[in-house]
Amino acid sequence: MSICGLDFGTSNSTVGVVHQQQPLMVPLELNSQSGEFETTLPSALFFDFETDDIHFGREAIELYSRGEFGRLMRSMKSILGSKNMDEGTQIKHKRYAFNDIIGFFMASLKQRAEAFNQQSLESVVLGRPVHFNDHHPELDLAAQNRMADIAHSVGFKQVSFQYEPIAAAYDYEQQVDKEELALIIDIGGGTSDFTLIKLSKQNRLKAQRDDDLLANHGIHIGGTDFDRHLSMATVMPHFGLNSYYIDKPTLKMPRHYYVDLATWHRIHLLYDANVLRDIAELARESQDKQAMLRLAQLLKNKQGHKLAASVEQAKIDLSHQETTSIDLSYLVNLEVHDNSEELLLNKASQLDLANAIEADVNKVFAAIDDTLTQAGLQGSQIDTLFTTGGSTALPSVKKLISKKFSQAKWISGDLFNSVGKGLLLDAQRRYL
Ligand SMILES: Nc1ncnc2c1ncn2[C@@H]1O[C@H](COP(=O)(O)OP(=O)(O)OP(=O)(O)O)[C@@H](O)[C@H]1O
Ligand SMILES: [Mg+2]
Repeated sequence: MSICGLDFGTSNSTVGVVHQQQPLMVPLELNSQSGEFETTLPSALFFDFETDDIHFGREAIELYSRGEFGRLMRSMKSILGSKNMDEGTQIKHKRYAFNDIIGFFMASLKQRAEAFNQQSLESVVLGRPVHFNDHHPELDLAAQNRMADIAHSVGFKQVSFQYEPIAAAYDYEQQVDKEELALIIDIGGGTSDFTLIKLSKQNRLKAQRDDDLLANHGIHIGGTDFDRHLSMATVMPHFGLNSYYIDKPTLKMPRHYYVDLATWHRIHLLYDANVLRDIAELARESQDKQAMLRLAQLLKNKQGHKLAASVEQAKIDLSHQETTSIDLSYLVNLEVHDNSEELLLNKASQLDLANAIEADVNKVFAAIDDTLTQAGLQGSQIDTLFTTGGSTALPSVKKLISKKFSQAKWISGDLFNSVGKGLLLDAQRRYL
């Protein structure tokens, strides 16, 4: 029987298979820029309106960035567990349920893994965040059921789930000798998830790990939220955020348009004809007409994801440099004699980023405290800290981790593959 572990992430997805008797992360996509195969497939789809083809991953993002005529979808996982799960979206002339869209993506992951392994995959352990929804257990359960339905619909016969941070713990456990108490911190694109677990070489072989598991917790905050905060703080004011009405000088433009534009999985809602009409109307009423016309042009040209990608890139740059500039020159609106200087010289610093995301980062660390409380433990009792997920590269996150757990040994895992590797280990344990 052929098995796999599949990590459907908010930003990146991976698949682990047993290849020639060895566990291996599948090289899912050729990176056209580096010429190397990557084990991550960015969780993105591009519906090409000329050819009616659907493209995935880096290719989807590239086609959209080149201005091909079509629709980009990203961060679909954020919709799972939300109240909008049933809504679906109009793409060209057809209305798609989100299940269908996630299904196209999961089918592509499966197909790529099968092509690599020359074998059809029948059994899967899917990763899931500790909470798809932090507050509503019924929506959380519905989200998992939905993922199971999608996995069956793309041809998996056996489907089971594992919490993402537990999977990461199993990956790390491969290098553990003596028993240790580990805190796993996985801060990804959509959620931050934590596990407190006893790991050892012997425990690794046990079928049941309930006795080793001391706490499991998560919160719906991740890199896409950090993108939104950086965008609201540094970029959205150029598009009219905080500008006032001409005839109501104490009232600002409606904030919700900007929140949507800065939120990966809500951007497409703004391309609706009614919204475009509203924005054109607001441009007439705003004291900053130029900024509002810039917003209208951006929406007309469907450049919302491009803007979000510029902000995300700036955030990533700031993990290894003090300052960066967010190049928005492609958004200069020549039709209205736009003040291009303002967009070209749009700078952001590590401090701007740290300030913009501070409240959310504090919530993530409060959730880490809650994880310790669940187990009745203090931070000082942790032997090892294992971190994974792209957002653990953020300087302000790193600083807080090292301050809070100064006594623990800190192992920084593979940011993008740990969960997938652990899911495969679990699949081997469950199905083989
Ligand atoms: N160097 C970096 N500095 C800061 N953030 C980064 C860096 N590299 C990637 N990220 C961010 O990490 C996030 C993606 O991480 P990851 O692939 O672990 O998430 P995911 O597994 O797709 O999401 P989730 O597990 O929450 O569903 C994105 O928000 C991305 O912008
Ligand atoms: Mg993840």
